[in-house]
Amino acid sequence: MKLGWIDAHTHLNSDVFVEDFVDVLNRALEAQIVRINLVGVDLKDTHRALSLVDKYELFDVSVGLHPSSLKEYSQEVMEWFEELAHDPRVVCVGEIGLDYHWHTDNIEEQKRVFRNQIHLANKVGKPVMIHSRKAMRDTIDILKEVKPQYGCVMHCFSGTVDEALECIELGFMISIGGPVTFKNGQEAREVVKVVPLSQLLIETDAPYLTPHPYRGKRNESSYIPYIGEKVAEIKEIEVVKLQEVLINNYKKTFGPK
Ligand code: NI
Repeated sequence: MKLGWIDAHTHLNSDVFVEDFVDVLNRALEAQIVRINLVGVDLKDTHRALSLVDKYELFDVSVGLHPSSLKEYSQEVMEWFEELAHDPRVVCVGEIGLDYHWHTDNIEEQKRVFRNQIHLANKVGKPVMIHSRKAMRDTIDILKEVKPQYGCVMHCFSGTVDEALECIELGFMISIGGPVTFKNGQEAREVVKVVPLSQLLIETDAPYLTPHPYRGKRNESSYIPYIGEKVAEIKEIEVVKLQEVLINNYKKTFGPK
């Protein structure tokens, strides 16, 4: 893989990119992005990710049922996800996890579906991609109880420095997103300082969490350099050195192409 940026977690497979997808893709290529992990959150997104991964070499795909998509949960759907998890195009089970910001009325169900999907990842020998919002304590406790055996990525890590240290100790990858560039993103910057380079990834989580100076607009993968350059500055390393580290971490986590 040639040098450039990676985007470890993005939703270019989402509806909001259908209209100008080719432009978005071309801007990502111009920004020297060499590998992009398309993450499904529901059935529709997942179908679209699979069709894109067949068309473009730079994409990988992660599949899983997001805690905000539990209305789609059924035995049949989970069997479909299980079948997909075996698919060689699928590099990761995710995003999965807990969201107590949007949903507090189904916490036990969220935990059950989360545990089941970690088991699934272990069964198929793939890493997990974790979504955790206002639920870091329960998230870490479940990850200690049902240990991911093939890697774990804490997507757009939004916890405290202490929680980051706990995740690092457990061997998880910490993926850094747009908030590291925000004026009020001091905590995210403190987290970057304590993450060893060997456990670091970066991501856009587009269309969400747009980095400065585009905050408030739709995010896209081509904005990844704003995040990467900020991380390089905090880690006090050359941008090309960071790119090399991130590419290696990406391959170590999601597999070589
Ligand atoms: Ni996401």
